[in-house]
Amino acid sequence: MSSLTKFSSFSLVWFLHFFFLLMLPLLCSSSSSSSSSYIINSTEEFRHYTAISEFRVLNRRSLLECPEPNPFLQVNISSSSGISDEEYVNVTVSGVLIPSTSDWVAMISPSHSDVSSCPFYSLLYKMTGDLSDLPLLCHYPVKAQFMSNDPDYLSCKKKECKKYRNDTCILTTCSASLTFHVINIRTDIEFVFFSGGFETPCILKRSTPATFTNPRTPLYGHLSSLDSTGASMRLTWVSGDKEPQQVQYGDGKSQASEVTTFTQDHMCNSSLPNPAKDFGWHDPGYIHSTVMTGLKPSSTYSYRYGSDSVSWSDQIQFKTPPAGGTDELKFLAFGDMGKAPRDLSVEHYIQPGSLSVIKAMIDEIAAGNVDSIFHIGDISYATGFLVEWDFFLHLISPVASRVSYMTAIGNHERDFVGSGSLYITPDSGGECGVPYETYFPMPTAAKDKPWYSIEQGSVHFTVISTEHNWFENSEQYDWMKKDMASVDRSRTPWLIFTGHRPMYSSQSGGLIPSVDDEFVKAVEPLLLDNKVDLVLFGHVHNYERTCSVYQNECKAMPKKDGNGIDTYDHSNYSAPVQAVIGMAGFTLDKFPNNADSWSLSRISEFGYARVHATREEIRVEFVNSNTRKVEDSFRITKS
Ligand SMILES: [Fe+2]
Repeated sequence: MSSLTKFSSFSLVWFLHFFFLLMLPLLCSSSSSSSSSYIINSTEEFRHYTAISEFRVLNRRSLLECPEPNPFLQVNISSSSGISDEEYVNVTVSGVLIPSTSDWVAMISPSHSDVSSCPFYSLLYKMTGDLSDLPLLCHYPVKAQFMSNDPDYLSCKKKECKKYRNDTCILTTCSASLTFHVINIRTDIEFVFFSGGFETPCILKRSTPATFTNPRTPLYGHLSSLDSTGASMRLTWVSGDKEPQQVQYGDGKSQASEVTTFTQDHMCNSSLPNPAKDFGWHDPGYIHSTVMTGLKPSSTYSYRYGSDSVSWSDQIQFKTPPAGGTDELKFLAFGDMGKAPRDLSVEHYIQPGSLSVIKAMIDEIAAGNVDSIFHIGDISYATGFLVEWDFFLHLISPVASRVSYMTAIGNHERDFVGSGSLYITPDSGGECGVPYETYFPMPTAAKDKPWYSIEQGSVHFTVISTEHNWFENSEQYDWMKKDMASVDRSRTPWLIFTGHRPMYSSQSGGLIPSVDDEFVKAVEPLLLDNKVDLVLFGHVHNYERTCSVYQNECKAMPKKDGNGIDTYDHSNYSAPVQAVIGMAGFTLDKFPNNADSWSLSRISEFGYARVHATREEIRVEFVNSNTRKVEDSFRITKS
């Protein structure tokens, strides 16, 4: 395709879908505004509702007023005096007359956003690319739980008598307690009791707002490399405080942070509305970033970050990666991880494998097996619900604060209609890569050009964006061509090429093609020309490994070594080995019954790739994060 912007059949389907949804409110405009479920002007819609300020932004939907909420209802939380940076908060709802399966509690966090014009919430929600049937409130709850999560609720085991007559109880109410995993997201939170399920919610009662003990706490520190020396490390963290803070590291060194943030105005500049700008918005606070210099590669140091005025993080041990051109590197790699709640809540997007993958990687790091991590796209799946970045950063903190956490951009960070992304899908929910780039500053040349290369140990990594133009003669194409041609193979014998969308996957077809033939056509020749050893992609949610493949043909097959491990001999190079490693969290994709001859290993389990590169070989193992068993392994050797 010569056009710089792709418009696949999938995009056309989406476009027609959006068009229909956009028109729907207009088609419905002849009905009375109160009966329409689509609100053109929410301020007008609710002008007679004092609740608009009382409930802040929650009820801009045409929420039904719950008929005569009973006077006994109460919502109490266990942390009335302030919530710590991480806490399991007990929420007790009492005074319920008739428990129902449709009763639920939402954790709401007010934001400073202007959501006075948030019509089309249903359309906006679908713009995340997630078609799940979930609550469609104008300001999305951070998380929610049905009251029936308390097994005593529906049977009213926790009773209270509210009225007696002649010493006999004539009015009994019921209660339930739910546990919410809460992390410091800086803004006040409240718990709101709804009836009517997610489809027709109405508000019965809310708790008094609760604040975090210290909204300015420096949190979620994570490391990345900014060059191939192994002698400097970037640290990025989040705080509610906009004044510069510090990292203190090594023997008495310190560096001040540069402080940045982003606003709703920085979200996708598209003619279409989007959740990131609207009901999915949550104030990110301030993102602090600084560089620790004067370090030795492959060495262990400790650091803490913060300031005397806001508080300090714990003292954290971290390891610098090996310098590029040295003999050895051990890294973990995966795509599509996301996050999952640590309680029984629903959230707008949940990646069920993420918790087991993180747990296994924490153990890998504790065992000293990891020099660095590569997360190759589809990072948090916040997709326009900004508070979920905080939950993701909290999740990865135990690993990302200890070793270099390098990233590539995926469709769920970047893509949006009319925003310059190569694929015109709604998958970023209106983020357009801005939160991603702010939280994960990589050694890229410029904003919204998220491609880079880095060398660690015996490996040169060429990291591309499959979401930006890679057609021949595009800026990125020219860059990757030059980058790979410039690799000194006597310094880094191995060349690994990585990005998000795959070139080879048995899941290539369907309504949403996982493999873009034009991407393969444009970029695959560069891999062969530059003798790329290993290609790692995500996007498809399983693990799959190829033969030495080019243009859908096996140019060579691996041979079993003495231990029965598939071994590719790159002393006699024929073509790259490609692997899909998108199995780190998102619900797994199954494989079709039939596979092409280039597909040698197919595993649909959660896990990650564990890679050990010396000068003589790269050994790759696919680790099942639940069993910790190695389910596939292979070697690429060079004498
Ligand atoms: Fe993806």
